[in-house]
Amino acid sequence: MMQQEGFVNPKGANRMCKLQRSIYGLVQVSQRHASDNVLFSLPGYMKEKSSIAVIGLSIHTAPVEMREKLAVAEELWPRAVAELTNLNHIEEAAVLSTCNRMEIYVVALSWNRGIREIVDWMSKKSGIPVSELREHLFMLRDSDATRHLFEVSSGLDSLVLGEGQILAQVKQVVRSGQNSGGLGKNIDRMFKDAITAGKRVRSETNISCGAVSVSSAAVELALMKLPKSECLSARMLLIGAGKMGRLVAKHLAAKGCKKVVIVNRSVERVDAIREEMKDIEIVYRPLKEMYEAAADADVVFTSTSSESPLFTKEHAEALPPVSCALGGVRLFVDISVPRNVSACVSDVGHARVYNVDDLKEVVEANKEDRIRKAMEAQTIISEELKRFEAWRDSMETVPTIKKLRSYADRVRASELDKCLQKIGEDALTKKMKKSIEQLSTGIVNRLLHGPLQHLRCDGTDSRTLDETLENMHALNRMFGLDTEKAVMEQKIKTKVEKQQTQN
Ligand SMILES: NC(=O)c1ccc[n+]([C@@H]2O[C@H](COP(=O)([O-])OP(=O)(O)OC[C@H]3O[C@@H](n4cnc5c(N)ncnc54)[C@H](OP(=O)(O)O)[C@@H]3O)[C@@H](O)[C@H]2O)c1
Repeated sequence: MMQQEGFVNPKGANRMCKLQRSIYGLVQVSQRHASDNVLFSLPGYMKEKSSIAVIGLSIHTAPVEMREKLAVAEELWPRAVAELTNLNHIEEAAVLSTCNRMEIYVVALSWNRGIREIVDWMSKKSGIPVSELREHLFMLRDSDATRHLFEVSSGLDSLVLGEGQILAQVKQVVRSGQNSGGLGKNIDRMFKDAITAGKRVRSETNISCGAVSVSSAAVELALMKLPKSECLSARMLLIGAGKMGRLVAKHLAAKGCKKVVIVNRSVERVDAIREEMKDIEIVYRPLKEMYEAAADADVVFTSTSSESPLFTKEHAEALPPVSCALGGVRLFVDISVPRNVSACVSDVGHARVYNVDDLKEVVEANKEDRIRKAMEAQTIISEELKRFEAWRDSMETVPTIKKLRSYADRVRASELDKCLQKIGEDALTKKMKKSIEQLSTGIVNRLLHGPLQHLRCDGTDSRTLDETLENMHALNRMFGLDTEKAVMEQKIKTKVEKQQTQN
């Protein structure tokens, strides 16, 4: 995978600070021209074409402290997409915000200007200065961006290889887009193809065989930290009974725990968990009793969508210490992003705090197995990537088809007009006029039939596709259609004008 100049490697290594500065210099110059209103005369613009890009950070490149500032709650995804597509150089957008990543996928009308706009948007949203943010951001373009999404969806980029929640989250991005007016043709198709890739990888390889999840890793970590002899007798408290809470309860039961107290705002979800899990006693306590419940617990798992911490240093200090048999420390295992347990709780002598980043300790173990399984999946990802790229390439011919048709129609209409004027309108009956018009249309349609046939392909045969694209470029040259540039310029112009009227 090609890492984009000036950004960190999506897998987390080798930052390229020198190049970073050079690319930002370039983008800033463009921005200045934009405000001087010479946007459309920049030579750089004309050479560009719209690109798919992903800009973001993940568990591999940024700590939870930073990820939580950028996290976008699911109900706010449509608003974030609307804000992003309102930017001058962003045409389509989707936000994939999970506990492990915050990634923005876009179709950018100009990639360097588009990136600059997105990075500024992220900085404004999170309050993190651009200089700090870019130390952790990765950026990939075109097929690298698509491949990355397919890998993410397949669970290859997850902390826990092959875990299933990420596929559900990718599906949720598509669903959320459908409910709020669409993600745009390219991004929508890319996400749907990513779902196909994710499903195929899971069904055609053994990647998810024995795969753990964030929730099972959290349980594993807690049990690792407890004295072996006390694992089953430790008093377990779970705060949050959503998807993650349910899974934590399930894994605790699978490990042989006989009782768990669940604190949740509403009782219904806890009742549903109790209904589902007969092997473990489940005691419900309402949120207002959370601190009393914590005082009676040795291990506290937190997995709620609360935007602010539920446990601060003061809360943890006020809790009584746990028994010496358990090492005298209360364990907080927090898998929420934003975190439910403040970092300073770890300053409390009788408390230990673990967050999602600490789960690496549990999942790092089987590295060789990870690499082998990931290699099996890459073949499928490459196949799906080829299919998507072929579809996207085939889409490129649409503007040429439209332009060629409208060019031919303009020529036809003007020649028809001249002809009718020469004959004299009064000399012709209605029927004759109609026949002449039909003749002109017939000739144009017959002449266009061949070229248009050569611009159409279903994108599944790469040889035909290459030919189609060659034909497209030839027609653009022959008829001076220059579609790519014209269409892109028009789109940017419309956006700039819209924004000017809004201001
Ligand atoms: N889904 C994943 O794959 C995944 C993986 C790892 C970590 N996480 C993190 O785990 C957390 C929970 O995710 P989820 O998928 O389980 O979400 P979810 O299914 O939407 O459940 C949200 C839970 O949070 C509770 N909640 C919401 N707002 C609250 C507030 N202000 N105060 C107290 N409780 C509140 C809800 O209580 P009610 O039932 O009363 O509404 C519910 O129990 C999130 O921080 C997420 O980032 C998720």
